[in-house]
Amino acid sequence: MSQIPQRRLCTGATMPAIGLGTFGSDHISADEVAEAVKGAIGVGYRHLDCASVYNNEHKIGPAIRETGVVRDELWITSKLWNDQHSRVIESCRKSLEDLRIERLDMYLVHWPFPNFHPPGCSVDSRSPDARPYIHEEFMRTWREMEKLVDMGLTRHIGTSNMTIPKLKLLLRDARIKPAVNEMELHPHFQQPELFDFVRANGIEPIGYSPLGSPNRPERDRTPDDTVDVEDPVITGIAERLGVHTAAVCIKWAAQRGQTPIPFSVKPRNYTANLECLKSEPLSDTDMRAIAGIDKGCRLIKGQVFLWKDHQSWEDLWDMDGVIKT
Ligand SMILES: NC(=O)c1ccc[n+]([C@@H]2O[C@H](COP(=O)([O-])OP(=O)(O)OC[C@H]3O[C@@H](n4cnc5c(N)ncnc54)[C@H](OP(=O)(O)O)[C@@H]3O)[C@@H](O)[C@H]2O)c1
Repeated sequence: MSQIPQRRLCTGATMPAIGLGTFGSDHISADEVAEAVKGAIGVGYRHLDCASVYNNEHKIGPAIRETGVVRDELWITSKLWNDQHSRVIESCRKSLEDLRIERLDMYLVHWPFPNFHPPGCSVDSRSPDARPYIHEEFMRTWREMEKLVDMGLTRHIGTSNMTIPKLKLLLRDARIKPAVNEMELHPHFQQPELFDFVRANGIEPIGYSPLGSPNRPERDRTPDDTVDVEDPVITGIAERLGVHTAAVCIKWAAQRGQTPIPFSVKPRNYTANLECLKSEPLSDTDMRAIAGIDKGCRLIKGQVFLWKDHQSWEDLWDMDGVIKT
């Protein structure tokens, strides 16, 4: 564990600065992901990004056990799914049971919307009960999240897919503030304002889809999406250094100050993703060049969370600084 760079959280705890994603994007089975978790721990990963909705925690738990690595050496995150906002304690206990552990290191509210949609549904799917972000409701969920810390069921709590206006309200009202915010972050989607905001408030940014999620499901693709690993700046740096484009994205993420959680089930790939952090860092010139290729290209748009007709996904992300109702 000492070989992996660490981040210090506002609580003083340290968290490995790279983790393994475990979302099989509907096409990688729970068994395959569990096998990758076992292999990844074997090559040195100590941080796992899990979630109940990934539908594989029941396989990941036994896989972790089989590695024989002691619990204290691992950082395990799980997440509360959207239809469980009023069943926080039960949901956390279910993840603990599936993962075969007594306590999580981090429990996140996966999305700030309580809107249910079935796994794998199309982006046009809408829940008849869908609602916008309602802060009072979110705080009722957050109070239960805080209870989980008091009960010793998780060491930390955090958020995911939040915006600055929503986080401002949460920071105003929380007794226990979020220690991390998990957010989409890759060279073509750098979210500089949100990134700066969370860091200024002592919240660690966890970067999901750090490679630009090249194998995401069809439903999460639109014609305007750009491809990070084909960007000439990324391919140019990769060629010059003799590394894969994935390594350039991961080095950039870690050096910028976010914690990337790349997903892979291929031993060669997940090993390379970890190993690249042990080689020479990117130069300042390379870091500046990558800072210059942000295209504001959000890949995970969240359309299924929309709550009324004729809305656009931008309404979910408070683009003009105001929470849409
Ligand atoms: N909080 C949220 O709402 C949220 C949303 C999305 C994702 N996440 C988390 O973030 C994790 C990562 O995001 P992601 O899975 O969307 O995308 P990603 O990590 O950007 O991309 C993963 C894909 O890249 C390929 N890959 C990985 N390393 C590679 C390498 N060295 N060379 C070539 N290809 C490589 C993998 O294929 P192979 O398996 O073939 O290597 C995999 O299909 C998820 O698993 C999940 O844990 C969270």
